[in-house]
Amino acid sequence: MLRTSAVLRLHAGALPPTREELLSGVAGCSGILSLLSDRIDAEVMDAAGDDLRVISNFAVGFNNIDLTEAERRCIPVGNTPDVLTEATADIAVGLILAAARQFRPAMQAVRDGGWRTWEPLGWIGQDLVGKTLGIIGMGRIGQAVAGRMQAGWRMRVLYTARRQPELPPHLAAQRVALEELLAQSDVVSIHVPLSEATRHFISRPQLRLMKPTAVLVNTARGEVIDQEALADALQSERIFAAGLDVCTPEPLPLDHPLQSLTNCLLLPHIGSATTQARAAMATRAAENILAGLAGRPLPYRVAPPTIAPQR
Ligand code: GLV
Repeated sequence: MLRTSAVLRLHAGALPPTREELLSGVAGCSGILSLLSDRIDAEVMDAAGDDLRVISNFAVGFNNIDLTEAERRCIPVGNTPDVLTEATADIAVGLILAAARQFRPAMQAVRDGGWRTWEPLGWIGQDLVGKTLGIIGMGRIGQAVAGRMQAGWRMRVLYTARRQPELPPHLAAQRVALEELLAQSDVVSIHVPLSEATRHFISRPQLRLMKPTAVLVNTARGEVIDQEALADALQSERIFAAGLDVCTPEPLPLDHPLQSLTNCLLLPHIGSATTQARAAMATRAAENILAGLAGRPLPYRVAPPTIAPQR
């Protein structure tokens, strides 16, 4: 899609560009198509130069982009909403089941010889049917997870949201305060974007409110959870288990405490990793670039932050 209308400068290789490669790579570019692993800030915008007309993130999340700086320079920022909702909700459900039923230690036992016989008390997990699900952040993905767990597992759904969302009629869910959600939920699933307001949203005081049998799942951004506090809570069995598709940093160092805890199940940020979702994300990211280069409104534009007028 892009080759027909633009000269492309591609970063080759499986790993993200170094900061130096990023800064030199964007020099003179009119558009930047970034991944969530690329920090796009004032320095990168400066390095691109005055021709920069659009930034298009290959992700629905955009915490890696300095929106205020882009807005100040009148550079629109695009993302890829909607097309990864179902794929990401599926991964959240997978993590809920896998963490609640101890997939990690059970699979490990199969591989390392720890599975010696059928044990009446071996790898006992938590039931889910009819239990309470707490959704932190009832946006598109939160609603999709809630819908699946209510329809399939008859779960009662509680949620927190900054603003009252318009929920689909088939979804029965109750908006409550975070403290109440944490105290009542058997499963807590995180779906808020990362911002200054949500960094370490789940830390020691919040984990202390959760049930000892509770499962915590995160498919949003790693920094929403205070990982040191989570490691302590899992280690001391303050909560039952966690299933994380995201962490900080990514990849998580092999010697990080969360790596060795058998009640912590980690995935390498694969929420949107299906053929259909990734192809649709690519299309949306390209459509945003093409619109920006042509000076048209981006079809999938991130709402710019409100900036106080400068005196
Ligand atoms: C993935 O995490 C995304 O934001 O698209």
